[in-house]
Amino acid sequence: KVLILDFGSQYTQLIARRVRELNIYSEIKPYHTSLDDLEDYKAVILSGSPMSVRSEEAFHIDLKSIRGTKPILGICYGAQYLAHYNGGEVAPSNIREYGRAHLTVIKAEEALFEKINENTQVWMSHSDTIKELPEGAERIASTADVLNAAFKIKDEETFAIQFHPEVYHSTDGKQLLENFLIRIAGVKPDWTPTSFIEETVEALQEKIGDGKVILGLSGGVDSSVAAMLLHQAIGRNLYCIFVNNGLLRKDEFPQVLDQYEGMGLNVKGVDATARFMEALKDEADPEKKRKAIGRTFIEVFDDEATAVDGAEFLAQGTIYPDVIESVSATGGPSATIKSHHNVGGLPDFMKLKVVEPLKALFKDEVRRVGRSMNMPEDILGRHPFPGPGLAIRILGDVTLEKVKMLQEVDAIFINNLKKWELYDRVWQAGAMLLPVNSVGVMGDERTYEKCVALRAVESTDGMTADWVNLPYEFLQATSNEIINKVKGVNRVVYDISSKPPATIEWE
Ligand code: XMP
Repeated sequence: KVLILDFGSQYTQLIARRVRELNIYSEIKPYHTSLDDLEDYKAVILSGSPMSVRSEEAFHIDLKSIRGTKPILGICYGAQYLAHYNGGEVAPSNIREYGRAHLTVIKAEEALFEKINENTQVWMSHSDTIKELPEGAERIASTADVLNAAFKIKDEETFAIQFHPEVYHSTDGKQLLENFLIRIAGVKPDWTPTSFIEETVEALQEKIGDGKVILGLSGGVDSSVAAMLLHQAIGRNLYCIFVNNGLLRKDEFPQVLDQYEGMGLNVKGVDATARFMEALKDEADPEKKRKAIGRTFIEVFDDEATAVDGAEFLAQGTIYPDVIESVSATGGPSATIKSHHNVGGLPDFMKLKVVEPLKALFKDEVRRVGRSMNMPEDILGRHPFPGPGLAIRILGDVTLEKVKMLQEVDAIFINNLKKWELYDRVWQAGAMLLPVNSVGVMGDERTYEKCVALRAVESTDGMTADWVNLPYEFLQATSNEIINKVKGVNRVVYDISSKPPATIEWE
């Protein structure tokens, strides 16, 4: 496997992702991780950073123990670090070095550039530049503006590059990483979903033994795949709990429960609709609604968990981006800080040990693993759905009647997306029930009824999103069907706002 030392670059996760695309397993750790025990790692990559190596607060790392013994690739800050602390000189650059550039000169016989030609496009993002190379270094590439765009330390497999191979705009970036990892470091590209499943199942068996594990299923991809892995490892000792908060999509609770049972899972469905409705009663504030739902979920879940005699472990579907965000929030160097509800979300009174089998994976890898286990495609391809469910799509206070109305609208919208083969082109879609009545005519009668908004967005991570250009014919058919079939709705609008500034959910 490969170690990526994180100096806080916004691109660190992308490095990990690119390495995985080469079927190589990698782990990101904060730069201050001890380098004493690196036997299992075949190569080390140093990430970029928002920091300057010239700053007094520059992030330091002692590479002595690995220099010359492990192949090292320094990217951006990593490259500058290798220069600055080894007798080279790093200085602020006179011209801005951002965006695309081309490697005008390449040392062709260098293994790092195998199959990469001169003029290949690379992505730059730095304000410091390497003026003087460190001792024993040899320049191996330049751009028109950056003389020392890449260097290698002689007699060591230590490489430094000023550009970002992990960014898609670096056309041959993946080839460069392949050259470094496979050709130079000799890492085997044997990380596949099947090998992941085998290793994980074995590790879970070892960790859990005859212990009992509790897992909360949500119907989403992550918790479902986590459950299947655990099921393969420990079978009936996995106790799954699927809570109906009454805020799921139409018929989702019985259908998904059926699917889970069909997959052989030991699952208990708990219908706590009344409890959630009670907690939400007369509450119109979005954040208070979220808190009421969160609190009630913990209460319900805890009741069920204590009912499992002698449970020792709690499994969670935490995935890699969740972990990274939490590491950043708790002492890692990354500038973007956000705490995540899945991580460390264990209430104190549930004294269970946490098991997180998907902790190393990205979302698309979770799906690949699920596919390898022959899980139903409609679970794996499911759109993200917020934990508080329809409660945050009903603006204002929530009642069962409103939930039912919105479920009908949502079901027509989603079914039509599937029928028109648009579902997989959309990252997330849903309907909002607005606290607005408007005038309409139906037959000879004047109506004064509810308005719903449809929202469909494209996104990769939910952080930014844009509305989807759905065909007019689709919108027309869907709007007609909603107004004709759902009693109490006489107007449908389509949300054409991007995020930022408009969030995906309306609350
Ligand atoms: P926003 O509305 O912030 O949503 O653009 C981004 C993504 O997060 C989901 N979301 C939530 N998920 N609990 C969740 O589990 C929440 O309170 C919550 N709020 C928003 C939203 O559905 C989208 O995928």
